[in-house]
Amino acid sequence: METVLVLDFGAQYSQLIARRVRECRVYSEMIPYDTPVDEIRAREPKGLILSGGPASVYADDALEINPEIFELGIPILGICYGMQVMAHTLGGEVTRTGKAEFGKTELSVTQEIVLFDDLPATQTCWMSHRDSVTTPPPGFEVTGTTASSPVAVMESTERKLYGIQCHPEVVHTPYGTDVLKNFLYEACDCVPSWTVVSIIEESVDAIRAQVGDEKVICGLSGGVDSSTAALLVYRAVRDNLTCIFVDHGLLRKNEATQVIDAFENHFHVPLIHIQAEERFQKKLDGVTEPEKKRKIIGEEFIRIFEEEARKLEGARFLVQGTLYSDVIESGTRDAAKIKSHHNVGGLPEDMDLDLVEPLRHIFKDEVRNVAAELGLPDNMVWRQPFPGPGLAIRIIGDVTFERLEILRDADFILQEEVRRAGLYRDLWQSFCVLPAIKSVGVMGDERTYAYPIIIRAVTSEDAMTADWARLPYDLLETVSSRIINEVPGVNRVALDISSKPPSTIEWE
Ligand code: XMP
Repeated sequence: METVLVLDFGAQYSQLIARRVRECRVYSEMIPYDTPVDEIRAREPKGLILSGGPASVYADDALEINPEIFELGIPILGICYGMQVMAHTLGGEVTRTGKAEFGKTELSVTQEIVLFDDLPATQTCWMSHRDSVTTPPPGFEVTGTTASSPVAVMESTERKLYGIQCHPEVVHTPYGTDVLKNFLYEACDCVPSWTVVSIIEESVDAIRAQVGDEKVICGLSGGVDSSTAALLVYRAVRDNLTCIFVDHGLLRKNEATQVIDAFENHFHVPLIHIQAEERFQKKLDGVTEPEKKRKIIGEEFIRIFEEEARKLEGARFLVQGTLYSDVIESGTRDAAKIKSHHNVGGLPEDMDLDLVEPLRHIFKDEVRNVAAELGLPDNMVWRQPFPGPGLAIRIIGDVTFERLEILRDADFILQEEVRRAGLYRDLWQSFCVLPAIKSVGVMGDERTYAYPIIIRAVTSEDAMTADWARLPYDLLETVSSRIINEVPGVNRVALDISSKPPSTIEWE
């Protein structure tokens, strides 16, 4: 598999570069900027990309690159800080010119050289920098400039080293993907061959290599991630797979029945259905702190899987539908922990099972493509994400049966109306949240003192960022009126209008 690795210098959205490369059908992964050179060499990448970063190359804590990386003899593209660190390390000059550039800028380029081959001589690009490369390193040619950046693009065709000050990975650089394609196909000589089919084939091979003839269990939630993971593992190990569906009592209305029906229609694998509402409820009794809830739920899932594995003549492997975004949010070495996604950071340290996570390196939209290719029906492929800890992280404060019922009924109404309005697939997620406050209302001639329900609906590409959805007023009106009239214990409906960042999609 041809691979191009992205060295992460801490830019907020470094993973977007890896994602764009994959959209160009070349496999890409993000790795820490200081990954040992031998490790990089062992991966035999066809090329490297140095990401942007928040720092200045002259800052005291500036992230430095090991100069040996430039001796690997493979093409390297530096983007923004990545370009500056390349220039600084190879003998060029980076200066704080006082001419910062943020936003759209006009870029003039030399068309015949690699990065802008066949692209317009002047074009818009998106900039976000304070320092600028003022002199390229020896052997580099300046192939692009802007009003404020005398060296906006630099290339050494001989050494196959390239630097670009603007961000080709963002949509505001209209020819950005073409620049990446030029780097990938012309400089790195990659063939655009990484497709959904190759993801499937490679995953199946990797799963076989990992588990051999051992028995495997899969925690199935009914969502597209775990269903896809289960189908991939089924292809790899056939009858050695058993799926386990744990009803932790934190599911939405009618969800357990729907999951089991869908499973029986589309899978030919044994399914064990564990009803564990009381067990989870006991553990969550009185727990209000979000991370504690997540850890308790994550641990309880694993204990149940361990018990079931022992019953199945010692299954040693547990399949989970963990995605790349779950891994990032749960904190990697260079990315701060935001919350413990129950299938990553929520896992207990002492665990008898080895994890099989075939989707760990891919994003939701890639999973959906794989799912469709594997034959999952549309309604499963396009199911909105639902978090492993379920409604427990949408109920702020105590998770009681009474509060679960309120949230379930309200959420059911929202789902029904969103679908009726034809918006279900346009929204990344739409759900209700139950806060731990009450407010005063008047119903009939009576005073009420009851909970509000908060509507959260977002659009997103991959859950790393999200915007609040501009739901039509008519829809909001219907939902509000139905929830207040039909759900006992609710007297007010509010709308969450926060984007991510700075908020997150879920409330806890
Ligand atoms: P946040 O709230 O971090 O959520 O912006 C990002 C996406 O991840 C989902 N999510 C989870 N999924 N286990 C999961 O499988 C979890 O513990 C978990 N927490 C959040 C969330 O619904 C959103 O799509």
